[in-house]
Amino acid sequence: MRRLILFCLILAGCMAAQAKTLVVYYSYTNNVNRIVTELTKQIEADVIRVEPAEKGLDYAADNYAIGSAQISAIRNNPDDASSYPAIDPVDVNLDEYDCVIIGAPLWWSNMAAPLQTFLFHNGKEMADKKIGLIVSSASSGISGVEADAKRLIPDGDFMSPSLWIRSSQTSNAATLVSDWLKTIGYDDFARIEDIMTDDANHLDIYTLTGQPAASDISSITKGIYIVRYVSNGKVTSKKVVI
Ligand SMILES: Cc1cc2nc3c(=O)[nH]c(=O)nc-3n(C[C@H](O)[C@H](O)[C@H](O)COP(=O)(O)O)c2cc1C
Repeated sequence: MRRLILFCLILAGCMAAQAKTLVVYYSYTNNVNRIVTELTKQIEADVIRVEPAEKGLDYAADNYAIGSAQISAIRNNPDDASSYPAIDPVDVNLDEYDCVIIGAPLWWSNMAAPLQTFLFHNGKEMADKKIGLIVSSASSGISGVEADAKRLIPDGDFMSPSLWIRSSQTSNAATLVSDWLKTIGYDDFARIEDIMTDDANHLDIYTLTGQPAASDISSITKGIYIVRYVSNGKVTSKKVVI
């Protein structure tokens, strides 16, 4: 029986290793793009870059007139799909992901409009997923962007705090991102196959509230568990995504 459990754990681990995290971002002047590049050096993730359907727009011209008009349209009528600027089609199956990290430029204290379009259409499918938010702004505080994210992903399980990186700090993104991942406990989530290669034995699986989980892993609901095991004579506990 134990062998069966171990086999299933490895299998489930492989499945969990298939990019359980999705990074979705938009970037006009590439600050968020640089942040996401640093982020994906540190975590395994699939990445989607949202692109406006209308190409070549200069959002910063005339004191940011186009971006300002798009934000005003959304503010005036946030429940109407036609308030949101069209974006290129995005082919994504959100069921595959446990965690979504959103990379957002700030526009007039709000989330950049094209990213709001993506979340307007997909945010409801992110219910109960872990949501991380990274915001880039020149100087304005990010509470409006956080409010947009919560409005557009009403049932997301938001990881706190969000990460705010000012444009002038973009070159320091690697350190800021790494510190943030530690703060939100992202590193705590081990992969089951890493544990198995750790020469683990006497392996027990518990829910996050400490209840023993089913001993047959095929009946375990997908989610985050605590695995307790003995390695090199030492008892270790780790949070694992199954
Ligand atoms: C339309 C528009 C509006 C913006 N409004 C603000 C603002 O109100 N406050 C601020 O601090 N930065 C503002 N910015 C600056 C961006 O938040 C900042 O440059 C950010 O780093 C851009 O990210 P990106 O390079 O990934 O597009 C605005 C930029 C644009 C294009």
